[in-house]
Amino acid sequence: MNDLLPGAVVPARERTGLFASLVKTLPPESVVFADQRVLRLHPAAAKALARFEVLPMVAGEPAKSLTMVERLARKLHGVSRSATFVALGGGTIGDVIGVLAHLHKRGVRLIHVPTTLLAAVDSSIGGKGAVNVGEVKNALGVFHAPAETWLCPAFFETLSDGQLREGRLEAWKMVATLDAATFRRWSRKPPDDGALLREARGLKDAVVRTDPYERKDVRVVLNFGHTFGHVLESVSGYTLRHGDAVGLGMLCALDVGVAMGLTPRGVADAVEQALPNRPGARRELSRWASRAKVSAVSTVLAADKKGSGGALRMVLLEDLGRWRVARVEASQWQGLWRGAWSRGG
Ligand SMILES: NC(=O)c1ccc[n+]([C@@H]2O[C@H](COP(=O)([O-])OP(=O)(O)OC[C@H]3O[C@@H](n4cnc5c(N)ncnc54)[C@H](O)[C@@H]3O)[C@@H](O)[C@H]2O)c1
Ligand SMILES: [Zn+2]
Repeated sequence: MNDLLPGAVVPARERTGLFASLVKTLPPESVVFADQRVLRLHPAAAKALARFEVLPMVAGEPAKSLTMVERLARKLHGVSRSATFVALGGGTIGDVIGVLAHLHKRGVRLIHVPTTLLAAVDSSIGGKGAVNVGEVKNALGVFHAPAETWLCPAFFETLSDGQLREGRLEAWKMVATLDAATFRRWSRKPPDDGALLREARGLKDAVVRTDPYERKDVRVVLNFGHTFGHVLESVSGYTLRHGDAVGLGMLCALDVGVAMGLTPRGVADAVEQALPNRPGARRELSRWASRAKVSAVSTVLAADKKGSGGALRMVLLEDLGRWRVARVEASQWQGLWRGAWSRGG
């Protein structure tokens, strides 16, 4: 165990509680990379960090760049390889600090403190860090697992409804594809965010443990809804939030499955009803789908390396909690894009 480099995939120690209390367990040589918005919204957390070196950052996709990695690295010359890096923020801070922690002195100990629900249910699990290069999202990445993950629910109190919805949609993605019993229970009575977080994290954790370095076709399930989710994000000029785009992308994946005779209609209807999409989701889908020509969609899909010659590999549902990767011919998705998705029905 002690021979493992920092970042090696071992189950992260999960701690739940008050940030100010957990901070007391940090070793003295810790560097905290913090979303400055979180520091502003949570002064008690900022105050608790007084003894440590804190580097405030602006969150968002531009933070996920090699330029940012270098800018931060320049401030770390005196920091040894036995240091601990703390990523305090949403998925963008977590992703870029994952890369930095991997590279600094060939790897240092990392603690994730996800402050968005999306980061808590998704990006802080599985050890992936990445930066964007030009227009290509996550073009350079590493596996660098956190030694610890801290779940501090107080941070989620300052998230907007939209931010909460994004995290919830990703959580529903996990139960719909992986756990029929939980899906049914959640459908009968939607979980509070604490239960949603715990159960969805457990599901993602089980998936990444089976396939920690993405060598098998297992982690791919986490892409459910992401094929057309990414297309919609792109055709909306990124005005559609990622989670909302994935929420609509899941409707697309259900429709494709039904059209191919792979997803039973009843299953598709149950998932569509349960997903916490915004009201009028089909209208929203049609708003974006009717704006983009199939040729433009193909360009996005090709850049996303999702298929060749217009055919796609997509995660589709065979049943609640049961999925498979299927080849989807160009004519199948193009018919839906021009037809049902553009019309909104
Ligand atoms: N590594 C992975 O496995 C993985 C998985 C899924 C997503 N991701 C990545 O995660 C990123 C998206 O994550 P995100 O939505 O958390 O992004 P983010 O870090 O940009 O956070 C979204 C917004 O929320 C704000 N914010 C953060 N915490 C807050 C709080 N407590 N209260 C109020 N506002 C707060 C941020 O300042 C930012 O404006 C994407 O870059 C995506 O690629 C990575
Ligand atoms: Zn996602």
